[in-house]
Amino acid sequence: MTVFQKIKIIGQLSSAGVVPSVLDEVPGLASLDSSKYVLFPGFCDVHVHFREPGFSYKETIRTGSLAAAHGGYTDVCAMPNLNPVPDSVEHLRPQLDLIERDACIHVRPYGAVTVGEKGQELADLQGLAPYVAAFSDDGKGIQREEMMREAMKQIRSLNKVLAAHCEDESLLRGGYIHDGAYANAHGHRGICSESEWGQIARDVRLAAETGCAYHVCHISTKESVDILRRAKRAGVNVTCETAPHYLLLDENDLQELGRFKMNPPLRSREDRQALVEGLLDGTIDMIATDHAPHSPEEKSRGLEKSPFGIVGLESAFPLLYTGLVKTGQISLEGLVEKLTSAPRTRFSLPLGNDFSVWDLDASYPVDPAEFLSMGKATPFEGQTVYGRCMLTVCGGKTVWIDPSLQEK
Ligand code: DOR
Repeated sequence: MTVFQKIKIIGQLSSAGVVPSVLDEVPGLASLDSSKYVLFPGFCDVHVHFREPGFSYKETIRTGSLAAAHGGYTDVCAMPNLNPVPDSVEHLRPQLDLIERDACIHVRPYGAVTVGEKGQELADLQGLAPYVAAFSDDGKGIQREEMMREAMKQIRSLNKVLAAHCEDESLLRGGYIHDGAYANAHGHRGICSESEWGQIARDVRLAAETGCAYHVCHISTKESVDILRRAKRAGVNVTCETAPHYLLLDENDLQELGRFKMNPPLRSREDRQALVEGLLDGTIDMIATDHAPHSPEEKSRGLEKSPFGIVGLESAFPLLYTGLVKTGQISLEGLVEKLTSAPRTRFSLPLGNDFSVWDLDASYPVDPAEFLSMGKATPFEGQTVYGRCMLTVCGGKTVWIDPSLQEK
């Protein structure tokens, strides 16, 4: 029997035709009991920060894409909060060149919606369109309604998706964690839920008016789930993502450490439960990591002073498998759909012959020292998870192989 005949495949492969021969050629795999492994189509993450150009002390295209491969991802879309911000073809060029040179998986840039992500003037959307997966000003909400309406109209005519970071800055008041029980008990300034859902409600109205394909980034509140559920029922062209930490953690898990700080913040238990319900009933279309690496020094400044952002690519699947599949909340097939076909369908990304192979029985504690990402901050540090990525193949090349396989 070939490796391919023994291995269990979960999810839709685009053309299983070439996978068997690729598998048979992987050193170490044939000599192992491959019946204990499962094969998934390459995961697709529409929300990562690879920090190049501009912030290569936090992450590079090379380290970010290696980290993605280590996590079973073969497609990612890279957010535009960079320097230069990719708001014109000229400003996108350095990123495209770095991707061409250094990426080991498919890295597709976002174009910025507004010049410099400043929300004042539209970027060169038409010029950027052929080169970008979609448009976003991630890291910043678009504050002015008229600007968002104009952006939606143009992005609709270009047949692209607008992916929005929803945050009403007039409601922030210097907050940095959820405005809830933990903030009250420990004297922290809170970020209210309305700063997120208020802008989603506005945008849903604008998406209905303009017909733009609208996608909401990293939703974190129960009101956001409600608004989006109703918008979908009303036929608005809207999708959304949440991230593993919003499904698995809430403010009760907070500690006074930078690795618990991200934007939006961990919310209440009810918010977390509403997100899981939204995932199960299809309101939440996909799971993205919002992989947002910062330097260890930057993240060492505690809850108040560290920058927002945690890493996610190398722990996402094991965490979700352990926290949602093994506990019986979602099927393995259902989870894989949220990580593979759902994001590709919405963002019109092709699935090549890319896949990863996992040992789902392997259990180990999340150890940031093992991450290939330059970012090490994760609230899940030390948590025991199931599922080890043994192999990732992208474009016919082995982009990650677990050292134990290589030794065989
Ligand atoms: O936690 C976050 N980090 N949220 C964002 O919106 C931006 C991101 C970053 O770029 O670090």
